Amino acid sequence: MDSDISLGSNGLTLTLDGQEAYFNACWLRDACTSCIDRQTRERIFDASSLPDLPHVTRAWIEGDSLRIAWRDEAAVGTVPLDLLRHVAAHGRPHDPAHLPRTIWMADFEPRITRVSQHDMLHDEVARAQFCRAMITDGIAIVTDMEPGKPSLTALVETMGHITPSAEGFFFEVRVEIAPTNLAFTAGALEMHTDLPGEEAAPGLQFLHCLENTVEGGLSLFLDGAAVAEALRAEDPEAFDLLATHSIPFFYRHDRLDYRAHQRVIELDQQGRVTGVTISQHLLDTMDLPQHLLDSYYPAFIKFIRMMQEDRFVMRFRSQAGNCVVFDNHRIVHGREGYIAESGRRHLRGCYMDRGALRSTYRVLAKRGFDGIAAPALETA
Ligand SMILES: [Fe+2]
Repeated sequence: MDSDISLGSNGLTLTLDGQEAYFNACWLRDACTSCIDRQTRERIFDASSLPDLPHVTRAWIEGDSLRIAWRDEAAVGTVPLDLLRHVAAHGRPHDPAHLPRTIWMADFEPRITRVSQHDMLHDEVARAQFCRAMITDGIAIVTDMEPGKPSLTALVETMGHITPSAEGFFFEVRVEIAPTNLAFTAGALEMHTDLPGEEAAPGLQFLHCLENTVEGGLSLFLDGAAVAEALRAEDPEAFDLLATHSIPFFYRHDRLDYRAHQRVIELDQQGRVTGVTISQHLLDTMDLPQHLLDSYYPAFIKFIRMMQEDRFVMRFRSQAGNCVVFDNHRIVHGREGYIAESGRRHLRGCYMDRGALRSTYRVLAKRGFDGIAAPALETA
């Protein structure tokens, strides 16, 4: 087996499944199983403690591991071949929460994953399905919520903890006498993501419908990634402008004055759309150079108009007892206006970190609950 390994000055080349793969020596030293404390699972090796950079003097395959003899060290290192295979193939270790997004359009409503609150609390299979849907679709619905205010906290705590925003732990969406936000009126609410004026805009949003007997007021949702990808296909220059430049947003009233700059289209290092940030009602005075605005504004307005197109916007009525949960960095939401005197409409909302969602899913997946629907459920 040693013949499949060639040593270089900074690392080694290894043949895995017939393919050559190069690994840097510092990376290999950090990847040795002895670097992680078994009890705390934290890293207990510090490469800077060595007199020189790690250097491989000999390497060989033993069972399902790569064994490495290091210069200046007595102990022989061990790196699992599974890790090397995955990094060679994907550039990163396996992460069960690293799931591809499912882009959706206006007709998605019948396919939204729905899980009862009872199952979220007591059934790990159902909870894993819900978490997986949140990662791939960015939206899911919890049905049959217990009535009353504590119900929402109980739901959030099946996956993490409530993340406070500028207004505290919860917000109540209903008509108010002196509203601090357009959401707290009966007027239409244009498509937006929440609180872009905060340094870290909330990750997941929960909207628990406590009552809804009004005429009108349909809830609107769209997949911001779908609109952004459509813009990239139809107008790449506009897409680049929105993905490159940050614009100012705010959240401000008598007691608060939050301000932050955000890119309207968020990309990852590979250039894939990871999310969007948009809110006309919380857009601050634009501060891009005036000549740049000559091209930025048309792109911005084009994107906003696209978000009003029927092909993207999913419309449904919020039903008392349901809680819609969605990714506030991807799913853009709004509301049609309603007649305040026609009944009562009250949604209780809060936020949670997206990291907590992924953490919950990883722990479930490690225990065998990956959230992939069983065939019987898929055909039900
Ligand atoms: Fe909102």
